[in-house]
Amino acid sequence: MTQESSATVALSQDPHSFARPQQAIIKHVDWDLVVDFDKKQISGNGIYRIEQTNHSLEIVLDIRDLTIHSVKLDDDPSEQEFTLSAPVKYLGQALRIPLQKKTRTVTIAFETKPQAAALQWLTPEQTAGKHHPFLFTQSQAILARTWLPCQDSPGVRFTYTAKVKVPAHLLPLMSADNPQEKSAQGEYFFKMDQPIPSYLLSLAVGNLEFRPVGKRCGVYAEPETIQDATYEFADTEKMLEAAEALYGPYLWGRYDLLVLPPSFPFGGMENPKLTFATPTIITKDRSLTSLIAHELAHSWSGNLVTNATWNDFWLNEGFTVYFERRIMEALYGHDYSEMLHTLGYQDLQHALTDDLASTPKDTCLKLDLQGSDPDEGLTEIAYEKGNYFLRHIEKLVGQERFDQFVKAYFNTYKFQSMDTTRFLEILEKELINGDAALREQINANAWVYEPGIPAGIEPPHARKFDQVKEQLQKWEAGTPPSELETNHWSTHEWLYFLRGLSKSLTLAKMEELDQAFTFTQSGNSEIVAVWLQHAITHNYTPANARLEEFLTHVGRRKFLVPLYKALLAQPDGKQRAKALYKKARPNYHAVATSTFDEMVGV
Ligand code: BES
Ligand code: ZN
Repeated sequence: MTQESSATVALSQDPHSFARPQQAIIKHVDWDLVVDFDKKQISGNGIYRIEQTNHSLEIVLDIRDLTIHSVKLDDDPSEQEFTLSAPVKYLGQALRIPLQKKTRTVTIAFETKPQAAALQWLTPEQTAGKHHPFLFTQSQAILARTWLPCQDSPGVRFTYTAKVKVPAHLLPLMSADNPQEKSAQGEYFFKMDQPIPSYLLSLAVGNLEFRPVGKRCGVYAEPETIQDATYEFADTEKMLEAAEALYGPYLWGRYDLLVLPPSFPFGGMENPKLTFATPTIITKDRSLTSLIAHELAHSWSGNLVTNATWNDFWLNEGFTVYFERRIMEALYGHDYSEMLHTLGYQDLQHALTDDLASTPKDTCLKLDLQGSDPDEGLTEIAYEKGNYFLRHIEKLVGQERFDQFVKAYFNTYKFQSMDTTRFLEILEKELINGDAALREQINANAWVYEPGIPAGIEPPHARKFDQVKEQLQKWEAGTPPSELETNHWSTHEWLYFLRGLSKSLTLAKMEELDQAFTFTQSGNSEIVAVWLQHAITHNYTPANARLEEFLTHVGRRKFLVPLYKALLAQPDGKQRAKALYKKARPNYHAVATSTFDEMVGV
């Protein structure tokens, strides 16, 4: 489809940004940055190419914890006045720059502060190699503004280049075309020709090496991890091909992975051209690679068609979870993807009946995050309820028709933002198409604007878990663990087994299980994380050392939240949680500490 014929979605005002893109909007930036590990600081300047769309003669950018040194307009060497609004929690400040009618570029000189929330500065001890420091950014949802002045709203897209200077022995990488080797001087040039929103801006700097795993795909990691990582992610190119076969060509050139140190607060982050990934998915058996399929899928859902504001987050994540599992199904079969759906459904049930039971409005797909930190409002609902809704539609219209719809949706709205209302209009026009019965069956308004899940929807069913259930029953009836049939179980069967234990578990039974299956010592982060929750709840002390090791090394919030919660729910748990958190906190990224400072207390 050509540019001309593709539809455009009008921008909705983003409650999490001060920017007023309707007045003047950033179209392109040329950054020139220096990364200083001693000062824990990024400094430099950006030349912002802008377009004024009304006559307000002003551009507004977002910043938070940033120092602005100077602002200049076009080629005028004199410094331009600017104003900063009073800081607002989470949101930071509005940087208002008066413009001339003819202004085309604004040059801003700035530097970051050590507390910049997007940045984690790691000491050598916090890396795999232990000899070099490491820096990485996490910009989603609204943290890009803590390391670069920008219009930090997912509805604003721009292209960019960056000159980046780093210490000579380190390699920098960005969401852009990336180097595959270090340069002698530590100076690098990056280019991103496709317009992206600010939350997809990223930078990582470390002692990194590159290995190809396919024609368009490769892995960056520290030398100590690169071999295991290359083995683990060998199927990445196949995933890319499966994704293209479903929903059309991959438009970003290369697709590479960067394996970060374990303090990375997420499982993965879909930075364009370069997914950031936690090392906790490296299991040596390739069993947790659906996370790669997920981040890859964002190359369409999210990075091409982008949620207009964080209230529409389900459009990013719900589509991505659905797409992720279609990719996994294409590579490893239906039984495999149904296991993922079933585990996801358990997560959804857990969110509905536990975490969000007291705030039902947070279980609507369309969120209302005004006045709150979007980072805290982003729950399983967007992911699993979003996915469940799309699967529901797919079941009603058939996979072929649904795939056509999704493919056309990505293609028509590529490089644009999308909000929930507009999506529902498109659904009506392109799929429902006047079919009143179908409209009623889809029942979109209930899914989107009402809490919970509409009645009468069939949950996923993984055949492979039937056999796990049988073993669980045998075990509950007294069969010793060593006699259970667990021979060909993958991580997913083990997770289903471990999640199914809670009811009848006792301390003695935990010992028995641990002896047979060595859960405490498992190197599989997903398995250990569930096991440690049981260990806390049942006061299984042989796992204490492992718990401490896990909490102090792994910074992935998804694992940490249930563990700290389980600790806090114990009679003397508050003290224990605090003591462990005190030890672990120095290894956590700001998005994790902001969660746990509140939850556990500093
Ligand atoms: N884009 C998200 C991560 C994210 C969401 C960061 C919101 C900040 C705010 C990423 O694609 C993601 O969903 N990661 C998941 C993994 C996935 C397999 C569910 C994660 O990190 O756990
Ligand atoms: Zn995602």
